[in-house]
Amino acid sequence: MILVTGATGRTGRRVVHELTAAGAAVRALTRRPGEARLPGGAVAVPGDLRVPESVEPAFEGVDVAYLFPVPGWPVADLLALARKAGVRRIVLLSSAALPGGPSLIERQHRAHEDAVRASGLPWTFVRPTAFMADDLSWAPAIRAGDTVHNAFPDASLAPVDEHDVAAVVAAASLDDDRAGHTYELSGPEPLTTVERVAILGEVLGRDLGFTELSPQELRTALAADHPPAIADAMVGVLAAATATTAPILPGVHQATGRPPRTYAEWAARHADHFRPDR
Ligand SMILES: NC(=O)c1ccc[n+]([C@@H]2O[C@H](COP(=O)([O-])OP(=O)(O)OC[C@H]3O[C@@H](n4cnc5c(N)ncnc54)[C@H](OP(=O)(O)O)[C@@H]3O)[C@@H](O)[C@H]2O)c1
Repeated sequence: MILVTGATGRTGRRVVHELTAAGAAVRALTRRPGEARLPGGAVAVPGDLRVPESVEPAFEGVDVAYLFPVPGWPVADLLALARKAGVRRIVLLSSAALPGGPSLIERQHRAHEDAVRASGLPWTFVRPTAFMADDLSWAPAIRAGDTVHNAFPDASLAPVDEHDVAAVVAAASLDDDRAGHTYELSGPEPLTTVERVAILGEVLGRDLGFTELSPQELRTALAADHPPAIADAMVGVLAAATATTAPILPGVHQATGRPPRTYAEWAARHADHFRPDR
């Protein structure tokens, strides 16, 4: 039995799909099991990762637990309960090193990894760089006016498709021989912000504009969805990314045997999100 947390999210839903397609028995954690509508016969169970005792029953009878980090989760307490219940191995969603040195975001992920190591359970770490899906935040402005409002037009990232993150998580979850492996994931190519806007425009068949925000304006926009310290860290990562070309990381190929999906493939799959009539 494999326990998938974050199972109703963009990445977790795809993990569930991959695992059930491979014939695995999957239990999927969500705060709202009644609304989960999961693929492939996965069984949704209730639990809040910020409340360890609510997750305890979900660990019973589980061989491998995939942990999706949520802000403020008491990860060491969750791991203690997993161990007590007999979970044999942990697959953790972590993060690759980000531009500009260890930001708060990166330090938090490394602290999760440290907690997993300290638990004594065998582990596999999946360390993606930025997600292509982060660009879905551009969808309302593109739908409304064919324009992206962002700072740092020249920031270079090599974002990874959430389906590739999920494929690596699934491969790691299905194979005990992946214990002790750390997979660092990026997409196949470094792309600046305006290069991603251009690809999106080509895929959508529309001429997209770019309005440059100041770093402070971007910070204010990010702070609507993130704690202020995380918004600061995100701005710092993008500022540092203007001075470099993003590295290409080998983890998708290492874990799955095939190359990572391109930004154009991702954009085509998500095109409906950017269409005005959605
Ligand atoms: N390198 C990176 O960029 C990196 C690395 C690691 C993680 N991340 C994070 O990963 C996210 C992107 O992943 P995604 O698109 O799959 O996320 P998503 O679509 O936003 O899904 C979030 C998931 O988390 C679950 N969740 C949230 N709070 C929870 C709680 N207290 N207890 C239990 N479950 C909880 C939700 O489940 P329910 O609502 O059903 O309970 C949902 O399944 C981003 O927010 C990013 O910050 C990024």
